[in-house]
Amino acid sequence: MLAKTYPYYLANRPQTSKTMLDVRDKYSGKVATRVAVPDAKATEKAIAAAVTAAPAMRALKPWQRQAVLQHCAERFAERHDELAQALCVEAGKPIKDAAGEVTRLIETFRIAAEEAVRINSETINLELAGRLDGYRGYTRRVPLGPVSFITPFNFPLNLVAHKVAPAIAAGCPFVLKPAEKTPIGALIIGEVLAETELPKGAFSILPLDGAHATPLVEDERFKLLSFTGGQIGWELKARAGRKKVTLELGGNAACIVDADQGDRLDHVVERLVFGAFYQSGQSCISVQRIYAHVDIYDALKRRLVAAVKKLKAGDPKKKDVFLGPMIDEAAAERLHGWITEARQAGAKLLCGGKREGAMLEATLMEDVPREARVNRLEAFGPFALLAPFRSFDEAAVLVNDSDFGLQAGIFTNRLDHAMRAWDELEQGGVVVNDVPSFRVDNMPYGGVKLSGLGREGVRYAIEDMSEIRLMVMREG
Ligand code: SIN
Repeated sequence: MLAKTYPYYLANRPQTSKTMLDVRDKYSGKVATRVAVPDAKATEKAIAAAVTAAPAMRALKPWQRQAVLQHCAERFAERHDELAQALCVEAGKPIKDAAGEVTRLIETFRIAAEEAVRINSETINLELAGRLDGYRGYTRRVPLGPVSFITPFNFPLNLVAHKVAPAIAAGCPFVLKPAEKTPIGALIIGEVLAETELPKGAFSILPLDGAHATPLVEDERFKLLSFTGGQIGWELKARAGRKKVTLELGGNAACIVDADQGDRLDHVVERLVFGAFYQSGQSCISVQRIYAHVDIYDALKRRLVAAVKKLKAGDPKKKDVFLGPMIDEAAAERLHGWITEARQAGAKLLCGGKREGAMLEATLMEDVPREARVNRLEAFGPFALLAPFRSFDEAAVLVNDSDFGLQAGIFTNRLDHAMRAWDELEQGGVVVNDVPSFRVDNMPYGGVKLSGLGREGVRYAIEDMSEIRLMVMREG
């Protein structure tokens, strides 16, 4: 199902290499395929090619950019099952989640195809006083030029799409470094992009390790760096010089369950289980902190524990498996260590907590001390904690008592609580009557505090990858 080897892409063309990177099946641990690795000269060539391609990319008409994006969406749809299986192997993502990600990949490219032909301009009224009579202002957006992207392992297709598709719509050549553990999705996207009429040099996809990705961060020929990943993003920003930087860095998402949810607990539990444990919690908006009103706390806890105990764990290639491995044993070991440490500090284990290799059980805890790492840091694994609250004020304080702020959820029937959540929670987004683990690919997505800088969601990324150019015209 996977090819034996995959090339990297330099200036739109596939390249072989003497140096190969093993990509493992994350469930079996066996080498599943091998990927060609570029050397430093190839990285320099990719940047130079992007610079050379910038005028041709800028000159592409909106309908030409749209045609490229439409072609990609069609080809991804034709290759849907192959892409899902590749994801399942390289990321250990349960096949159902993998298929869902391919659907989103196609949607993201379709959204970008639509946005490519509606990057509109504005007329500015400059006649503010008699001395300005006869002056008119007009703006339009022009592409920034070459941009660089670094993407994470948890959505190897769709988080690549969220950078690549807006870049094409905006008219920016790009150099992308996909995650080393999951480069296949990006390289298949490269294969499809290579079928298009994009100008030579418009894209390079380089499966580099972090140490060799320095030019993508520091080289001043790039006008923007877009990074999705962990807190290291802030260090990259400090090294990025004059270029724009956008960061999506995750969080420890919270979800409030209000007092009036007693008669819909089954629904709430189903959503919380999904939000906390889909793709083993390896999502930036996975539910990590559940705050339930004291009146329904015990009932919610009982049902949640019962539902979590029923989750089927195992080989992600099997259709009925909900919980696959974490990305590697080190990641599972890290979170298991945090769970053990929280227990030693007085937290109570409600279910889960055991680890075998990269498989960590779906784990729920309560009475977790404020300072425990499972509370303060991003768990990025199959873990959630439960805590009671007595008033909306208290719930808002608990949610905001975090260094992060990407998305939060609230289940409530009260309009005033929904509006207060939107007003008072320090987040990039608030989801009412669902979990924070909700994303449609055209919505603005990004965080405050340590969660990041800027917003993705195709239109918002296009704005970041372009800038306003003004024309002033004087009559006569
Ligand atoms: C993320 O983990 O940042 C992405 C979540 C998503 O796209 O659903």
